[in-house]
Amino acid sequence: MSHYPALRLRRTRAAAWSRRMVAENILTPADLIWPLFVTEGADEEPIASLPGVSRWSLGRVVDRAREAAALGIPCLALFPNTPRELRTEDGREALNPDNLMCRAIRAIKDAVPDIGVLTDVALDPYTSHGHDGIVDEAGYVLNDTTAEILTEQALVQARAGADIVAPSDMMDGRVGMIRSALEADGHVNVQIMAYAAKYASGFYGPFRDAVGSRGLLKGDKKTYQMDPANAEEALREVALDLEEGADSVMVKPGLPYLDIILRVKNAFEVPVFAYQVSGEYAMIEAAAAAGAGDRDALVMETLMAFKRAGCSGVLTYHAPHAARLMAA
Ligand code: PBG
Repeated sequence: MSHYPALRLRRTRAAAWSRRMVAENILTPADLIWPLFVTEGADEEPIASLPGVSRWSLGRVVDRAREAAALGIPCLALFPNTPRELRTEDGREALNPDNLMCRAIRAIKDAVPDIGVLTDVALDPYTSHGHDGIVDEAGYVLNDTTAEILTEQALVQARAGADIVAPSDMMDGRVGMIRSALEADGHVNVQIMAYAAKYASGFYGPFRDAVGSRGLLKGDKKTYQMDPANAEEALREVALDLEEGADSVMVKPGLPYLDIILRVKNAFEVPVFAYQVSGEYAMIEAAAAAGAGDRDALVMETLMAFKRAGCSGVLTYHAPHAARLMAA
């Protein structure tokens, strides 16, 4: 009996109501985190390599926060485009309590207190060389010096009102240092989402345009970001970040690393997030523009893939569009 024709797996697929009934995963706007770029410049600066995504002034980024709240998106991820003249070797603008990032946090939390604000902890939007940390004469990114500065940066962001600090730098030991500093400063409920398994990827190009670091970057980030060849190492990274106090972990980029997401989820049973990064967004937009696929279908299918792999949520530039599709 347990074979054709008694068994026909197409039976439950035959009608839309039935497909809905047996769906193993669903997408809701609560699965989305919307990355937003902030600028000191014009109200809206379109980003050529990221069609449909702009940098926003403080006023307009608050409008985006209201839009997100209305769409049911629970959390925003903020990235600043620091003016060129404020970028230095040591990225000290990252520690300025009135920097663009901190002003954006305060403006959003004042206007839309119920939306989560996640902030990027790394120095690349603030350094003149485009690296996430402090470089020595040989161009090597120094781990311990950088981790101390990142700890200060996370504190500055928490004091400005950040709900989740997200170190994206891949320095060793920084999650534990940040957790201790947050505890000592009274920010016991500020979460840490660790960019735990972040790969040295070719998919970050448009992001570097968005934060203005592409032209500045000297060399690559392979001495701190992970080698795309490695998976077991990702599990070690995640284990350490969790031991050090991370509340959730991220895998980045997203779609090319679904295997990592699944393995992390199976091994640790903690909240796992994926960052569907700028190059992935651009690829979908380019495919749709070339007539190679339906944009809405590509967006929803890739987001569902993250849920199926075990993600609690996805950072995606398609967040508002996807939330609208989910509501339709
Ligand atoms: C750097 C950082 C990067 C991204 C988020 N934080 C780029 C990099 O590591 O060079 C990429 C996000 C994206 O491509 O959308 N701290």
